[in-house]
Amino acid sequence: MQLRAEFLWEKYSPYFPIGYAIGTENIDRYKGGIDRHFNSFTCENEMKMYTIAPHSPTQDNFAPSDNMVDYAVSQGKRVRGHTLIWYNGAPSWIAGCRDKQTLLRLIGDYVTRVVKHYGNKVYSWDVVNEAIGDDNRYRSAFYDVAGIDYIETAFCVARAANPHIRLFYNDYNLDKPQKRAKVIEMLRELQRDGVPVDGVGMQGHYNLKDTRISDVENAIREFSALGLEVQITELDVKNYGNTGARRQAELYGELFALFRKYADVITGVTLWNAADDYSWLDGDDFPHYGTGKAYPTLFDENHGRKEAFYKVFDF
Ligand code: G3I
Repeated sequence: MQLRAEFLWEKYSPYFPIGYAIGTENIDRYKGGIDRHFNSFTCENEMKMYTIAPHSPTQDNFAPSDNMVDYAVSQGKRVRGHTLIWYNGAPSWIAGCRDKQTLLRLIGDYVTRVVKHYGNKVYSWDVVNEAIGDDNRYRSAFYDVAGIDYIETAFCVARAANPHIRLFYNDYNLDKPQKRAKVIEMLRELQRDGVPVDGVGMQGHYNLKDTRISDVENAIREFSALGLEVQITELDVKNYGNTGARRQAELYGELFALFRKYADVITGVTLWNAADDYSWLDGDDFPHYGTGKAYPTLFDENHGRKEAFYKVFDF
């Protein structure tokens, strides 16, 4: 253990890289400050299909993510790519496709182009995001048109485009037993078919009401039992109104103690946003989670260290 670690990534360097996700519109205010706590980086929205190829499969808009990736690389951070194939926000040129062979070709061409564009600057990709719905069944028009073949194609093509990067399936609520069971069924099928999946991204959008450490631990165990690596890819803990700061700190502490315990299978932990002055949860799109501000991160609105930070940092 290092004696004088100043930043999160230093403290966690014996365990796993620590990252954060942020968007173009917010990154500047963390540079030189909170940014220095992290040695891994994720673009919040700039690598999504709706940003890279909003209007046509052949007119790529790589500039927003290129800028961020170049910045992250210049700071010595590794970059997680998020995400190649996600039904949510898929542009109409692909979301509207109703022919299986055409859809698989569009997916294959897109994945190849994007993976090759970043090459080894991106060390891991969330190849497919959120393929299983809240009813624990496959969802999206992609599945309706192509079945599980759309997932298999995405992974196989990504591996062919760059054999040196780690390929992840990424989803939320994987601590919940029923959804996890469905995802494990899917992963087993992919493995049976020889599809190159290297790991599972457990998003880790947790809360003070029903997140249980034992559920998270079971998930880590069950995914690693499949021979897969595990990353926590979008960690935050909702604390609406900032009324549960003490419990939030405890939960963060318990989560990171658990992650350290499983450092042999956990190959990265990424926080979804940097500080409480900006969180995706405070936007207009997600009113069903709670009212008011969510205060979900390790740093307060002025970028000061919260009690949660110390629970994660002091061990
Ligand atoms: O760019 C427009 C801007 O011009 C406009 O003024 C503003 C008004 O609301 O909207 C802006 O776009 C928003 C974009 O975030 C950038 O802020 C979109 O409406 C909004 O839908 C989009 O939300 C993102 C969401 O994914 C959907 O892509 C969140 O920032 C992002 O944090 C969230 O991240 C997802 C992960 O990718 C997958 N797992 C769940 C996680 C949280 O939902």
